[in-house]
Amino acid sequence: MTTWTRDARYTPLTAATLARYEALCAEAETSPWRQHYHIQPPAGLLNDPNGFSYWQGAYHLFYQWFPLGPVHGLKYWRHLSSTNLVHYTDHGTGIAPDSDWDSHGAYSGSAIADGDELLIAYTGNHREADWTRIPYQLTAHLDTHNHLRKDEPFLKGAPGGYTEHVRDPKIWREADGSYGIILGAQRADLSGTALYLTSKDARDWQLHGEIDTAQPAFGYMWECPDYFPLDDHDILTYCPQGLPADGDNCRNLYQSGYLIGHFDKTACRFTHDGFRELDHGFDYYAPQSSLGANGERLLIAWMGLPDTICPSARDGWAHCLTLPRVLTVENGQLRQRPHPNLTQLRDSGTHDGVHYELILDNPDNQPFILTLRASAREKTVLTYNGEAVILDRSQSGALPEPEKDAPGKGGHIRRLALRDLRRLQLYSDTSSLEIFLNDGEATMTAALYPAPDATDLHLAAADSVQITTYPLHKA
Ligand code: FRU
Repeated sequence: MTTWTRDARYTPLTAATLARYEALCAEAETSPWRQHYHIQPPAGLLNDPNGFSYWQGAYHLFYQWFPLGPVHGLKYWRHLSSTNLVHYTDHGTGIAPDSDWDSHGAYSGSAIADGDELLIAYTGNHREADWTRIPYQLTAHLDTHNHLRKDEPFLKGAPGGYTEHVRDPKIWREADGSYGIILGAQRADLSGTALYLTSKDARDWQLHGEIDTAQPAFGYMWECPDYFPLDDHDILTYCPQGLPADGDNCRNLYQSGYLIGHFDKTACRFTHDGFRELDHGFDYYAPQSSLGANGERLLIAWMGLPDTICPSARDGWAHCLTLPRVLTVENGQLRQRPHPNLTQLRDSGTHDGVHYELILDNPDNQPFILTLRASAREKTVLTYNGEAVILDRSQSGALPEPEKDAPGKGGHIRRLALRDLRRLQLYSDTSSLEIFLNDGEATMTAALYPAPDATDLHLAAADSVQITTYPLHKA
């Protein structure tokens, strides 16, 4: 067993022998919880999706990665590309923490197509000898030969009035060719906020200040903000840390949610009608959007949470990314549907009780109980009782557990009030469930760690409730 001392966590990949790294990958491959069609690390820990973009006819997707163990340590970006968001080519390390600016981690950031280069904006996490953190915001350029060039940081250290927690730039291009960035930050009074920056050339950046959301004390830090226009609305997604539990809401250790409204960039003000969670399950954090090949807005998140122990850490790896979702606003409401290309995963024949897509049609709005991944000892239960959907993974097998206690948080049952449920679509993989309710009206995501024999699927409902299943093959 490795003891995760600071030195062990900050060991670069270049200091590990190839044999050690290959042994870690081989150990991860023996894990009974390896996913079949989700992006997962070959070894070590995956967290936020980064640099999600469409460039030169392909999607590019990176993720935060500590290669040498299932813990948060020296972060790299690992790089994948895909033409369909179903099958990916793995390009290995995308950004290595090999400069003074990112000496303690190439932290989260984003990317956009910029002619024959991919323009990346990310946070270099640097620590001094006394462990004081200095965040650097920098751009980098990836060329078509996979060569990366880092620029001098455009924002060195935290601006006045903010702590060392300034990170996760999300870059976009305006119609007039100029650029914008939204950046997560913590004020000196330890409340969270997001900063807005603009640039004409993506070299000189002007900090306009905070985006005023009229939420003066809404969590202690906002991580991984994103902004995009969508169907005549503006959306701001972010992960405000430190929100209290509130009934069925905000029950996870950390939240990921959005505002829908209007971003007045001149006044630096975002008007909206309140924060909503993006997902009503257990494991959903740091979502990042990208424009798709046809101008649609896509969203991918980390299926995990900070400060949480993941059962697969036993096998030397932790976490995966969610499936890609397509976002729309319909009747003023955000909808999240699974990417249509995911039908390419469907096989014919019968499924193995683990890897499948399930569609439940409920034309009469009947109650039902859907029991998944069940054996004599384990089960995961999704209940609709006419008033709410309840997802219970308390008996699903090994469980992710928060490393911290927070009042009202945690537990393994989530409830979403809903009085009309006509359709449900779910994706089951070896160690996850992603549930889409009413054609993308709401979603519930759960990491699960059942034993391999937990393969029963059972529906208790009136005859009018029908399910169709498709086996899904390895991507
Ligand atoms: C969110 C986060 C980001 C940071 C990254 C480091 O999960 O804490 O704020 O950039 O992870 O891995």
